[in-house]
Amino acid sequence: MQTVILDQQQLNSHYGLLTVASPQLASAQPGQWAMLHHGLGNDPFLRSRAWIIATNRSSTATLALDLHDPLLATIARMPKASELDVLGPLGRPLSSDGQKATLLIAEGNAIYSMLFYAQRISETGAPVLLLASASDELRVPPFVLPAEIEYLATSDDVLDLLESSGKLDSPLVWANRLLAAGSIDLANRLSQRIRRERYAWQQGFASFIVDQAYPCGIGMCGACWQNTRQQPKLLCSHGPALDLRELS
Ligand code: FES
Repeated sequence: MQTVILDQQQLNSHYGLLTVASPQLASAQPGQWAMLHHGLGNDPFLRSRAWIIATNRSSTATLALDLHDPLLATIARMPKASELDVLGPLGRPLSSDGQKATLLIAEGNAIYSMLFYAQRISETGAPVLLLASASDELRVPPFVLPAEIEYLATSDDVLDLLESSGKLDSPLVWANRLLAAGSIDLANRLSQRIRRERYAWQQGFASFIVDQAYPCGIGMCGACWQNTRQQPKLLCSHGPALDLRELS
């Protein structure tokens, strides 16, 4: 599918934003991504993943570009009005139904996988608390986030922020819904905290996006197998989000 570049914006030394004209991508839901190809080489399979972080629901979509990915860095230098070959939206959408108090926990650049979700949840009027870890220069600037959400960031362990939200209850008790993104180590430590702090861990309470590259993004290459309690799953086909209890 051909799209047209409308705008580019650098967020920090590692990430940029790309806005394209595309009714198809504008229909994307939170949790989805697109596979981009700059059209300059001969290999149509050489694509890189970019998380969709916003749409206007009718004609445009904004994606986050990892500038350390050579292909995406090339796209970030393409001028406005250039054509861009895009596959997507891909991935199973995350449900943002219901006005539930929502806790988001992001480790490093995995935050880009949940920005669209944060936007849609805040549009429902539900309270959202976002805890994120990143060094100062790689932190997502607040203007990218909905103004309504509470956003705390640290350059240390993101789970340390569970102690500093200012809420009367622990955020893990306050929340009716949790989405986290990051390493398997974070998934394991978060599971331990939930089991320790919550009276009950209901089915569907906590989802987790494993921060991993998707070389093909369409279930073909087998590079994104993830062990779970039942059987291994392809993250790009079954995810991006899996139930946290499946992982740890
Ligand atoms: S990224 Fe290729 S199978 Fe998932």
